[in-house]
Amino acid sequence: MYWRGTSKRFVLRFAAASLFFATIVICIFSVGLMRAQMATEDRLLYRGWWPRHSAPSADQYVGPAECAKCHAGKAATQKYTPMALTAQPVAESEILSKRDRLAFQSGKINYEMATTAGKSVYSVRDGSQTLSAPLTWLFGDGHVGQSYLFERDGNFFESRASYFDTLKGLDFTPGRKLTDAQNLEQAMARPVIGAELIRCFACHATASTIGDKLDRSRIIPGITCEACHGPGLKHAIAQKAAAAEGQVLESDQKDNNQETNAIFDPGKLSPADAVDFCGSCHGTWWDVKLAPPVGIANVRAQPYRLEKSRCWGKNGDARITCVACHDPHQKLVRDTAAYDKNCLSCHLATASTKPAADHPGSACKVGTKDCASCHMPKYELADFHYKFTDHDIRVVRQDAPFPE
Ligand code: HEC
Ligand code: HEC
Ligand code: HEC
Ligand code: HEC
Ligand code: HEC
Ligand code: HEC
Ligand code: HEC
Repeated sequence: MYWRGTSKRFVLRFAAASLFFATIVICIFSVGLMRAQMATEDRLLYRGWWPRHSAPSADQYVGPAECAKCHAGKAATQKYTPMALTAQPVAESEILSKRDRLAFQSGKINYEMATTAGKSVYSVRDGSQTLSAPLTWLFGDGHVGQSYLFERDGNFFESRASYFDTLKGLDFTPGRKLTDAQNLEQAMARPVIGAELIRCFACHATASTIGDKLDRSRIIPGITCEACHGPGLKHAIAQKAAAAEGQVLESDQKDNNQETNAIFDPGKLSPADAVDFCGSCHGTWWDVKLAPPVGIANVRAQPYRLEKSRCWGKNGDARITCVACHDPHQKLVRDTAAYDKNCLSCHLATASTKPAADHPGSACKVGTKDCASCHMPKYELADFHYKFTDHDIRVVRQDAPFPE
């Protein structure tokens, strides 16, 4: 049946070719559509630098002390930010070192963390049996909460108990509450393995992903300069050489092409890319769409919330990116009235004037100051024992449900 064979092959080839072209058309179309915002996993497929990207070798990282030699101002403040302190060896935990014993009870099970001379041991008891392990890594600077990892037989486990600042004590780790554990082991901790383990360290530390694997040999605890700006060896060498000749090597690059530019400057990103940049850890619009923290929990994904608000508009604006309101090299400003200048860079201050190109936002009929206190409400996440700020800037009607 030769002809049938040929025709079948032809049909198959034709189908394959159509599929191929259709795919190309869809790709071109969707790249055009998705240029504005992207999922972080897609960003990480590109060769160029992006936060959480793997580096081919740990040798390319120099550490924040090296950056501080030339950028003393930024280094002096950055090191005290919660981001810089967000992962540490447990021996560095001020929270645990100040409290020799922390405990909480759930049903028959007692959870305890006991600290002596910089060593913290986590124990779980159910009356007949006790399991213990020395804690190794802390996550979270603790102003919201602090979680702990320990290691056993080369594997990492996340303790089911975490510290919470508002409680000044322990409770279940957010999202990990378990009241019907099969055994004490399961009640004690949750294994953290593979891609999840890589992500944990990539979001909370620097120089942890080398060659697409978790490499702890030269890890820099916390989010330091190179977690955002990329490995800095090339830049430091070039600037040192220039300085030796009495020159300053000004960056003349308009983009962040890694072949020609030694350090990543997020200041050159478009508004949508700039928000995705912080979103690589804080959760971009697409990150939330593809793997949604459902319900009120998505209040923690500030990039998603912000891009949902009417202030963002279609393609954003430099006045409403994360860095317009927050300097990542400084501690968060806690006085909400301090953000009025950001709102008023777009919104009119008085109702008598009409919105214009440089002030596209209308004036408020209700208030003239402390705008964020009414338009960026705080929502308590019970798991976190903490109130988070909603970045979906809007008119909040009384008793209106949380807009997901
Ligand atoms: C030997 C001095 C020196 C060292 C070390 C150094 N820098 Fe720089 N850096 C400079 C100078 C000079 C400039 C250009 C002028 C400016 O913007 O301050 C610069 C510019 C930058 C810029 C702006 C981007 C650009 O292309 O202009 C960033 C971001 C940056 N440095 C980050 C870092 C980080 C992160 C480290 C550590 C990994 C580091 N620098 C280490 C001297 C240095
Ligand atoms: C995709 C990036 C990402 C991953 C993966 C991730 N975190 Fe986080 N984590 C964040 C960000 C961003 C915040 C702060 C944002 C917020 O809550 O507003 C945070 C906050 C925390 C806090 C609260 C700290 C505080 O006091 O503010 C703890 C504790 C924490 N993470 C532990 C962990 C642990 C343990 C893992 C792995 C099992 C993990 N995180 C995985 C990004 C990440
Ligand atoms: C490499 C991952 C990562 C990137 C990139 C990142 N963040 Fe964070 N950020 C975190 C983590 C983790 C925390 C939680 C720190 C803690 O409290 O332990 C955090 C916390 C914060 C906080 C809260 C600090 C406080 O005092 O409560 C602010 C504000 C913040 N980030 C802003 C930004 C901005 C703006 C950008 C982009 C310029 C950015 N972040 C990029 C991981 C990241
Ligand atoms: C959480 C991410 C993050 C971390 C951590 C971070 N930066 Fe930046 N940095 C940015 C962003 C975003 C910009 C561009 C917007 C701006 O200027 O604030 C920037 C801009 C810069 C610039 C150029 C802008 C200027 O004012 O000249 C320098 C230099 C710089 N950073 C150095 C550092 C150094 C040194 C460290 C460590 C001590 C550091 N950064 C840590 C995100 C970060
Ligand atoms: C980039 C410019 C820009 C910035 C910055 C900005 N807005 Fe807006 N905002 C707009 C535009 C444009 C609109 C839509 C037109 C209008 O309603 O005025 C809007 C709409 C609003 C609305 C009405 C939303 C609704 O649901 O109908 C509120 C409330 C608001 N903004 C408050 C704020 C507050 C508070 C801040 C500061 C925390 C702020 N905006 C920052 C541009 C901005
Ligand atoms: C128009 C100003 C504005 C913009 C833009 C903005 N923020 Fe905020 N952000 C605030 C205010 C106001 C607070 C609350 C400060 C307070 O009350 O302590 C806050 C708080 C935070 C916190 C602390 C946790 C919390 O929920 O209170 C984090 C983390 C944060 N912002 C991250 C971001 C990121 C990431 C972006 C970009 C997607 C961003 N912010 C854009 C105004 C802004
Ligand atoms: C005391 C709480 C409060 C404060 C403070 C406040 N607002 Fe409002 N705002 C409201 C309420 C309530 C409305 C809805 C008014 C209505 O529709 O009747 C509103 C409406 C708005 C609107 C929508 C206007 C329209 O006609 O569509 C904008 C924009 C806005 N506010 C911006 C701001 C800015 C900018 C500031 C700071 C300069 C601010 N607000 C301060 C409560 C407040």
